[in-house]
Amino acid sequence: MRTDVAQLVRLEDYRPSDFLIDRVELDVRLHPTMTKVTATLSMRPNPAGRSDVPLVLDGDEVNLKAIALDERVLEVGEFEASPQSLVISQPPQQPFRLTIETEIDPTANTKLMGLYRSSGNYCTQCEAEGFRRITYFLDRPDVLAVYTTRIEAERVEAPVLLGNGNPVESGAVEGTGRHYAIWHDPFPKPSYLFALVGGRLGRVAKPFTTMSGRKVEIAVYVEPGKEHRADYALDALERSMIWDEKVFGREYDLDVFNIVAVSDFNMGAMENKGLNIFNDKYVLASPETATDTDYANIEAIIAHEYFHNWSGNRVTCRDWFQLCLKEGLTVFRDQEFSSDERSRPVHRIAEVKTLRARQFLEDSSPLSHPVRPSQYREINNFYTATVYEKGAEIVRMLKTIIGDEDFRRGMDLYYESCDGTAATVEDFLKAFADVTGRDLSHFSHWYAQSGTPRVNVHGHYDEAAKTYRIDFKQQIPPTPGQPTKEPMVIPVVLGLVSQDGQPMQAACERVSTRGVFLLDKAEDSITFTGVSSRPVPSVFRGFSAPVKVSLDLSSEELLVLLRHDTDAFNRWQAAQTVAMRMLVSLSTGVAVRDEEMNSLASAFCSFMDRDALSDPAFAALVLTLPSEADIAQEIGKDVDPDAIHRARKEVRRHIGRACFEHLTDFYRTLAETEAYSPDAASAGRRALRNAALDLLTAADQQAGEKLASEQFETASNMTDRLASLGVLMTIPGMVRENAIGDFEQRYRNEPLVLDKWFTLQAAIPEDTTLDRVKRLMEHPAFSINNPNRVRSLIGSFAMLNQVQFNRKDGAGYALLASIVLRADELNPQLASRLLTAFSTWKMMESTRRSHARRALQSIAQKPNLSRDVGDIVNRSLE
Ligand code: ARG
Ligand code: ZN
Repeated sequence: MRTDVAQLVRLEDYRPSDFLIDRVELDVRLHPTMTKVTATLSMRPNPAGRSDVPLVLDGDEVNLKAIALDERVLEVGEFEASPQSLVISQPPQQPFRLTIETEIDPTANTKLMGLYRSSGNYCTQCEAEGFRRITYFLDRPDVLAVYTTRIEAERVEAPVLLGNGNPVESGAVEGTGRHYAIWHDPFPKPSYLFALVGGRLGRVAKPFTTMSGRKVEIAVYVEPGKEHRADYALDALERSMIWDEKVFGREYDLDVFNIVAVSDFNMGAMENKGLNIFNDKYVLASPETATDTDYANIEAIIAHEYFHNWSGNRVTCRDWFQLCLKEGLTVFRDQEFSSDERSRPVHRIAEVKTLRARQFLEDSSPLSHPVRPSQYREINNFYTATVYEKGAEIVRMLKTIIGDEDFRRGMDLYYESCDGTAATVEDFLKAFADVTGRDLSHFSHWYAQSGTPRVNVHGHYDEAAKTYRIDFKQQIPPTPGQPTKEPMVIPVVLGLVSQDGQPMQAACERVSTRGVFLLDKAEDSITFTGVSSRPVPSVFRGFSAPVKVSLDLSSEELLVLLRHDTDAFNRWQAAQTVAMRMLVSLSTGVAVRDEEMNSLASAFCSFMDRDALSDPAFAALVLTLPSEADIAQEIGKDVDPDAIHRARKEVRRHIGRACFEHLTDFYRTLAETEAYSPDAASAGRRALRNAALDLLTAADQQAGEKLASEQFETASNMTDRLASLGVLMTIPGMVRENAIGDFEQRYRNEPLVLDKWFTLQAAIPEDTTLDRVKRLMEHPAFSINNPNRVRSLIGSFAMLNQVQFNRKDGAGYALLASIVLRADELNPQLASRLLTAFSTWKMMESTRRSHARRALQSIAQKPNLSRDVGDIVNRSLE
């Protein structure tokens, strides 16, 4: 095992900074390999910090050129500089100005943190600790300063120069080919929100007037020639701004709002003040190159980053343990936005699918951690589904418990009382405690306890007394560092449905008028009176809490819910539960009676008969069976991915055969007649049609192949073309290989489209895929340096291809391990993300488990691992 493990950072060790920085003046002279940065910091001792201590500034691979204190050049001996820190042993006890000159090489920056180059353009990424790669600084979120930035570059190389805040001045540098721009951001901000951009960029823009009548220019910058692909992003931005005014009363606060798309980016996007920088995958869209899912993601991420202007920037985080304070809240806000712009129930189902696939998985793995972790070795490893998605669920539960009005009042108070500060989760909860008079201390366990609670629900009907009792029992499994837990406060939104599908109005005083029962003990029961017949309970409506539910309902009762429940989420859930039971049985060698299979199939058929076409997007979700990864998670131990693959195929074939006529009919009637539009209703029709194609093909490969090839050739948009190619992928042979070649030719100049092509091929569940992936790594469009390429090919192989990544001979694990090691030398964040694909290794059957352990050990034993990979590999093996 490694011995040189990184230092542990603990929440309980937090103390305020000993020094503060009030103002930052930056002068950045861009150059491909020798960029010069002069930072002038107006500093003073922090009254809340310790006195008579040295000043220690953070650095990371920076090269110090000169340093002066109050304009006096410091001599060797008065300071100590290394690439990691700059220490001044006897700093002044009153305000002072520190001027630091550093030199950095943006071209050599393959980590994509700090200042780097992407397709020749200069850009930055500073969250979480990237600013220290630009200059020495107090690089922590509770040090807030007002920044003025002067950016200078060769005009031909970088005609566009962008910074945070408002543009102040720009012009030529006399007698040179260089020019400059000065930007000033009046809002004090932490260094992680700093950004600058310099490059050749095209632009789309429009004016926006805020609710109080202020004029703002909003703009999106992209690669020249791709401006038309930025229109949707600009539109989504405008809609986000209007929505945040209407729903949360939040107004934009600068004169300009700029978004820049870059093609090399570690994450989705970044909310730098007034200058959001995006992975171009989440900006660029045209019907020919982007799918409906891409459009939905663009809308959500544009909104997410914009919403951070209040939840993150105006109110920021005291320290990185509070990351969920901005991320969980902002995910909640973007989910609400998408729900309002699209279909709320459909969006809720999509959210829950992601939560289960990513967060529940993480929470049941060695990487499980609380929404607010209490310790970390590498903060970049905590930008997780738990912090983001479970963090959003906590906010949603809070809203469910206190109600819409008090939630809005609490949010207003939070913004008002914390504006301009670096806050904590306690500050957030205090706002809601203050407006409601409630004690939220028990509720706050959601932030501190890791693991997904399991809630057992048992119903008892008393025919004579006409009462219905529901017994609830909650259990939270042990997780790393947390062997035992306290019961949580779990909001259960519920109702009763009669066996013939009618809503039942039974009384229960423990259930609020909004239909919420609060389960806050390990065990509790509630009793409904005046229940005239045995009901079917519909619990956790709308997925009211991020828990796993065990229900003692029969398949027949679940199918009553699928048919009749007033809650769309539980209708979908009922179908999933019935299918999951069958899939688990088939995957684990438990016999399934023909009648069971037939009753599921006929439930699907009658669903298609009655109401599928009234909400196609919802119907597409019902018709999509739990994924192989979902089934593996449900089984939980000694998993055999091959058996799961066979089981899922069998059930799909069965349903496809039983409902063949309906499916054919849907496929025909839903054919597109109008020009492509990315709106939710049109997307829903495409989703249902393509789900039908998938099931048809499962039932009759030949017929499916024919339809899919036709669709592939004639498709007028990327959604339909890609869906048909996805179907063809399931059928080995020349038709498939020709389509793969055709797609490659068509889109050879479209890197983001070829990413989809990489993904589909990496997901082929056949033994030859390993070689295919290795071959594709040599493809001219592939680059180990570009995170989008690596995630599309390698990430998809590891996360989507259950049978080939988890090959019984261990070759899938070995391939991933070797790529992780290669990537780690260039980009540790990318490498450690890939490595999280091993989080399922302990649930595999023993042969696979030992192969996976060996692969992980081979990584752990390598010298000079990054902190990122070292941390993940060690936690995975614990
Ligand atoms: N704050 C960004 C967001 O909106 C994520 C940036 C994370 N970057 C990183 N290198 N860890 O979600
Ligand atoms: Zn965010």
